Amino acid sequence: MTGAAEAVPLRQLIWVPRVSQIAREAGARLREFFAQGVETEYKGDVDLVTVADRTVEKLIRTRLGEAFPDHGIYGEEGTRERLDGEFRWYVDPLDGTTNFAHGFPQFCVSLGLEQRPPGAKPDEDGTLVAGVIYDPLRDELFTAERGRGARLNGEPVHVSRARELAEALLATGFPSRKRHASPNIHFYQEFTLRSHGVRRAGSAALDLAYVACGRLEGFWEFNLNPWDTAAGILLVEEAGGRVTDYAGRHYRLAIHNELLGLFSDMFAGRGLAPIPTPREYAERRASAAE
Ligand code: IPD
Ligand code: CA
Ligand code: CA
Repeated sequence: MTGAAEAVPLRQLIWVPRVSQIAREAGARLREFFAQGVETEYKGDVDLVTVADRTVEKLIRTRLGEAFPDHGIYGEEGTRERLDGEFRWYVDPLDGTTNFAHGFPQFCVSLGLEQRPPGAKPDEDGTLVAGVIYDPLRDELFTAERGRGARLNGEPVHVSRARELAEALLATGFPSRKRHASPNIHFYQEFTLRSHGVRRAGSAALDLAYVACGRLEGFWEFNLNPWDTAAGILLVEEAGGRVTDYAGRHYRLAIHNELLGLFSDMFAGRGLAPIPTPREYAERRASAAE
């Protein structure tokens, strides 16, 4: 587990102070758009985008360019700059656009910084070194730097110490493209039956930030993009948690082990709890009433 947060004074953090200012400024713009209401466009299927997504990505791009002129930027709304350099930012200007468009108050700005070995190709991964997630409606700023712990509004945070899935609160999300190709509804059902519940709050970055600060015991989702997860992954790791793919090998939390065990059972079709179809349910009710 990472206990470094207590040891490193805030002023010694390298990236977080400057990037927190940028995230707060971006969040303030989102708050204004949210208050005034915005038109929604479709990027595809039920994948929504608004003027807020585009305007705030432009703002972040300008501010990151001023603060770190050598760094690359990879943004959800199309920014692709200097991707072959040592550092690059994964930017989600508005994570939770569907919530935002409906006036549902759960969304954030997410900024994650990756450092790559010298000479790495643009598609080669590096190490996540900094992450900032800002929820402008709650004024909650989640920050992390590699080896220096995770914080919420400057205070060190830690993942939950709950030991079993049966006492866990979990979260997941569903894709907004190719929805019929996703098996996740089956996992949602099974995990709901084996835990305290599964939230689908609509912002993957905040879901990960909530795992980092122990409000959730676990989170999973299929096919997320790096701008959804870069900052949140580092937050969870720096808060003492683990993040892997579904076949992950390095477990630390008991609940993480259990989640992975259940995933492999379900992919193999083992041990699924039977749930009545709506028709079976109606038939049972009718025969109970006789
Ligand atoms: C979405 C949110 C949502 C998740 C989707 C993401 P967006 O990001 O994180 O929680 O379920 O998969 O695409 O489009 O609001 O930035
Ligand atoms: Ca997103
Ligand atoms: Ca987004």
